[in-house]
Amino acid sequence: MSNLLFPVLSILADGKFHSGEEMAKHLNVSRVSIWHTLSDTKKLGVEVFSVKGKGYRLSQPLILIEEDKVKRAIGEMANLFNVKVLEVVGSTNDYLKKEVTNGFPHASCVVTNIQTNGKGRRGRQWQSALGENLIFSFLWRFTKGASALSGLSLAVGVALIRSLKKINIHKALLKWPNDILILEDGIYKKLAGVLIELQGDMDGQSAAIIGIGINLNLSKKQNAKIDQPATSLFHWLDEEVNPNDFLAVIIKDLAEVLAAFEEDGFGKLKEEWLSYDAFHDQVVNISSGDRNIIQGRSRGVNDVGSLEVVTLDGVKTFASGEITLRRSE
Ligand code: BTN
Repeated sequence: MSNLLFPVLSILADGKFHSGEEMAKHLNVSRVSIWHTLSDTKKLGVEVFSVKGKGYRLSQPLILIEEDKVKRAIGEMANLFNVKVLEVVGSTNDYLKKEVTNGFPHASCVVTNIQTNGKGRRGRQWQSALGENLIFSFLWRFTKGASALSGLSLAVGVALIRSLKKINIHKALLKWPNDILILEDGIYKKLAGVLIELQGDMDGQSAAIIGIGINLNLSKKQNAKIDQPATSLFHWLDEEVNPNDFLAVIIKDLAEVLAAFEEDGFGKLKEEWLSYDAFHDQVVNISSGDRNIIQGRSRGVNDVGSLEVVTLDGVKTFASGEITLRRSE
C-alpha cells in the first residue's frame, strides 16, 4: 500500500474536488504517485470519483481517526491509555493478539481506519468500510484467570450503552450476550457487535482482547452485504459527533466498567444490564452450536451473565458464547 494513501485521503476528506496537480503540489510528490495512490484506494474498497477538469472526490466527507485527536478527547486521563491508530489492518483483534504476547501495555486501544478482514462472532465476517464504521480492539489484562471472567462480554455491553447515552442515544438495547440493537419500525437492527478473545491461563493471569465494531454511517452498498438488519449511529444523532471524540468516551467507559468488573464480577452490573435487555420476558428461540432449537421465555441473566430461559421443561441456563437468540415470529 502506498504511504501516500492517508495523506491523500486527508486532503479528500472534505468531500470536495481536488485535482491531482493540487494534491501532488501539496504533498510534494509527482502526479504519477498520486495517480498510483488513487488506484490503490479501489483495492481497499474506498470509492474515489474522478471528473475530468475537476479532479477527485470521495462520495461523502470523511472523518479519519487520528491518535492525537483521540488522546486530546480523552483529556487528563490520556496517559493511562495506549492508543495506537492504524491506517489499514486485516483485523484489529488479530493485530492486538500478536502484540499482547509482545508485551503491549494494559489498557491499549488499537483502532483502524480500514479493516480488510474483520471477524465477527461464531466465525462470521464483520463488514466495514472507510468512514462507515468505528473499528477497534481494547486490551485489558486481568490478574484473574479466564475461568473467573464469565459475564465479561455482558459488562462490555453495559459500557457501550453508557457511552451511547453520553452522546444522547437512549434507545439502544442489548441482545444477550452483547449485541447493541435499536428497534426501528418494529425491527431490531444491529448498531454494534463485540468479539472478545481471551489469552492466558484459565487460573493464572489473562488478557482480554475486546473487539468492537460500531456502524457509524453505513452506505446502502455496505448494508446490503450484512446478513441481518443493521442501523447506523449517525442516523440517530441530532448533533454531529466526531468518531475520535466518541472513541475517547468509550475508552473511558470501558476502563471504568472493566475495573468494576475485575473488582466485583458481573453481579453488580447485572441490574443495569437487565434494564437494557431487548428481549426481556419475550418468547425466544435459542440455538446452540449443534443447532438444537429451544423455545422459551427469556427471563434475563444471572450473576455470572448466563441467560435464563423458562421452557416447558423448566428453567434452562445458557452460558455465554455458543448461543444465538432470535425473537420468535
Ligand atoms: C459480532 O459478530 O457481532 C462481533 C463483531 C466484532 C467486530 C469487531 S471490529 C473490531 C474487531 N476486529 C475484528 O476483527 N472484529 C472485531
